[in-house]
Amino acid sequence: MNDDIEKVLYSKEDIVRVSQKLGKQITQDYEGKNPLVVCILKGAILFMSDIVREIDTYCELDFMDVSSYGNAQVSSGSVKIIKDLDVSVEDRHVLIIEDIIDTGRTLRTLVDLFEHRNAKSVKICTLLDKKERRVEGVTPDYVGFDVPNEFVVGYGLDFLGHYRNLPYVGVLKPKIYADN
Ligand code: PRP
Ligand code: MN
Ligand code: MG
Repeated sequence: MNDDIEKVLYSKEDIVRVSQKLGKQITQDYEGKNPLVVCILKGAILFMSDIVREIDTYCELDFMDVSSYGNAQVSSGSVKIIKDLDVSVEDRHVLIIEDIIDTGRTLRTLVDLFEHRNAKSVKICTLLDKKERRVEGVTPDYVGFDVPNEFVVGYGLDFLGHYRNLPYVGVLKPKIYADN
């Protein structure tokens, strides 16, 4: 599996460091607010588990499964809710945890949805921000890394369901996605 990676962009250590930095900011910003921290499955699962361990104040966790890409490499443009939240966001401070913002369609849809459901506030924490590809105007509040427009996988990010379990973010070799 590691042979399919052209280069490592962000190592395990880089990600730990950035999670600690963001976790500190989030702790300060949400002290006394009991935020609902929402993991967007499946991509955000690894980042969620690392970032919440760096949040040193009361919070609750929930999970939402949405998909815009399916197995396609380009976004279909519509975001499908596969699993909704278990709890209500009404009057809650919501902090969305994402692995990557690409076109911004997923987060545009989710922010609008949570605001429509009367959340008290909605903020975004993303490990990667791929600004070059943005279609929707989405601005994250907490960003790990500004990522170049390359085919990145690992640490939650997949290609055809694979590579999510890599402990780092890397660039996939073109021959891997060209064959599919
Ligand atoms: C990926 C990624 C983000 C979204 C970003 O999820 O994890 O959630 O796409 O793209 P966008 O900004 O263009 O909407 P995907 O839909 O592939 O589902 P997954 O997390 O289960 O892989
Ligand atoms: Mn996702
Ligand atoms: Mg995906």
